[in-house]
Amino acid sequence: MGKFLLMLLLLGFLLLVLVQGQATLCMVCSIFVGNTCYEGQGNCTVEQGRGCRTRDIYVFNVRDGFSYNHTQMDCATPCRAWKLIKGDLKVSSFCCQGRKFCNRLQGRSVAKMHY
Ligand SMILES: *[C@@H]1O[C@H](CO)[C@@H](O)[C@H](O)[C@H]1NC(C)=O
Ligand SMILES: *[C@@H]1O[C@H](CO)[C@@H](O)[C@H](O)[C@H]1NC(C)=O
Repeated sequence: MGKFLLMLLLLGFLLLVLVQGQATLCMVCSIFVGNTCYEGQGNCTVEQGRGCRTRDIYVFNVRDGFSYNHTQMDCATPCRAWKLIKGDLKVSSFCCQGRKFCNRLQGRSVAKMHY
């Protein structure tokens, strides 16, 4: 392998490490509906892992079953994408990393913007 190629490889590797090691700024909000944060707006950073979290909260009622109520955003390490039902709440979690405020761009509140 040529020296040049090796250098290029090394450079690429370094870049990868740099990008991976960069902290991501995530959005924080405890009550987010539609396009607006009504409560607890702020931001947080995650150093590694897919730690920008978005959680869609569904509330159970007898007439409609689980219906979407609001979205929460924060930082969580580890962040796990999953669904969970706890009493009359259903929570869908989404995780992302690497783009500023990327947790603003996932989950239910984004899907709603297309309607
Ligand atoms: C993050 O929040 C701090 C206050 O907690 C604020 O001063 C800062 O401007 C915010 N950063 C961004 C990019 O919104
Ligand atoms: C449902 O959303 C409203 C805001 O639209 C919020 O005040 C209320 O606490 C939420 N209900 C639950 C059970 O989280």
